Amino acid sequence: MTTLIINIKELLQIRTATETKVCGEAMRILPRIKDAFLLIKDDLIADFGPMNSLPKLVANHTIDAKGKLVLPAWCDSHTHLVYADDRAAEFVDRINGLSYEEIAMKGGGILNSAKKLQKTSEDELFAQARKRIDEIMALGTGAVEIKSGYGLNTESELKMLRVIKRLQESAPITIKATFLGAHAIPLQFKNNPDAYIDEIIDNMLPRIADEKLANFIDVFCETGYFNPAQTERLIIAGQKFGLKAKIHVNQFTSIGGLQICLKHQALSVDHLEVLTEKDLCDLKNNETMPIALPTCSYFLSIPYTPARKLINAGLPLALASDFNPGSSPSGNMNFVVSTACIKMKLTPEEAINAATLNAAYAINLEQTHGSVTKGKKANLIITKQIPSLNYIPYAFGSNLIDTVIINGKTNG
Ligand code: NIG
Ligand code: FE
Repeated sequence: MTTLIINIKELLQIRTATETKVCGEAMRILPRIKDAFLLIKDDLIADFGPMNSLPKLVANHTIDAKGKLVLPAWCDSHTHLVYADDRAAEFVDRINGLSYEEIAMKGGGILNSAKKLQKTSEDELFAQARKRIDEIMALGTGAVEIKSGYGLNTESELKMLRVIKRLQESAPITIKATFLGAHAIPLQFKNNPDAYIDEIIDNMLPRIADEKLANFIDVFCETGYFNPAQTERLIIAGQKFGLKAKIHVNQFTSIGGLQICLKHQALSVDHLEVLTEKDLCDLKNNETMPIALPTCSYFLSIPYTPARKLINAGLPLALASDFNPGSSPSGNMNFVVSTACIKMKLTPEEAINAATLNAAYAINLEQTHGSVTKGKKANLIITKQIPSLNYIPYAFGSNLIDTVIINGKTNG
């Protein structure tokens, strides 16, 4: 099965197979070909180049992309999109003056979602999450990471991870699963959080590994949640089962969790809204990918990750939606890219690099996703007719997507 896309106004994010992430100044460059073609064979990118070098061939389908841009589908490297119902009432509480922390202290927040999820059946959770997957695919997402963390007991964490497994088996996009048992301290462990860490290490992790339910391990390392020492225990325990660390750090406070992540070569450190000069300095010369979540900052009205400082220091950056019911109830990566440009002062090229190649790296998919490279998955966005790539973040709120191709097939 072959599909040929012709007359592409600009084909964006062209990389060789050895380019697995972009850092610092190089993020300003988004390699492209004007007036291009791209050939898809089955689920893979087979060939591409300028139209004047189009080989003579007969394809099963031809798409004329005159006036349109083609770029790799977004990779969303941090979500919590398996959850039960919504938390719109807390949203209104915040409008009326309560903070995210105050709501959490009243038993709302993550514990509220956990209560809802514990009562919801696996089938119902699957149905709700599947709809969200369909929604983000239509918005151009071609690979996504999904965390557990609203179960907070063995049975419900396993239920969430089994839902993620069913999504992996049934949805066309690539899904990576992250075990986030340490997302909040369950009420019954309020006076002895270390006993909950024991529970995670002794009871949850071995079963999760046994059923092969997770690729990564995560911890909400934050004041009032889990401290750096507990985070370190969990990272080490996860590593024993082959789970790489992707950790929530520095969302509200800088408490040393970042340094623990770097010490153990975490795959990514996520949030980083609060970053000291020492944190910034320590991030250098590591393979760990910083991930910013601008729509979480937007929704909670908290500071944005100092992305300019990170990139100006020569570091790489990935962007993700953080899709979850409490701090970012949206998986729209187009809006993430716009918000990164508008609020964090990324250039359009930097934002697209952060939401494609670097995002693929942050979920270990850099060999197969995140760029236009021969042999990589044919996961592509064809835009509507638009004036330039700058128009993608500029015209925020407009749907600029004409077609989404996932695994070589037109979605929808
Ligand atoms: O990434 N910070 C921790 N976890 C989520 C929020 C989860 C929730 O509020 O339900 C986040 O923002
Ligand atoms: Fe998160």
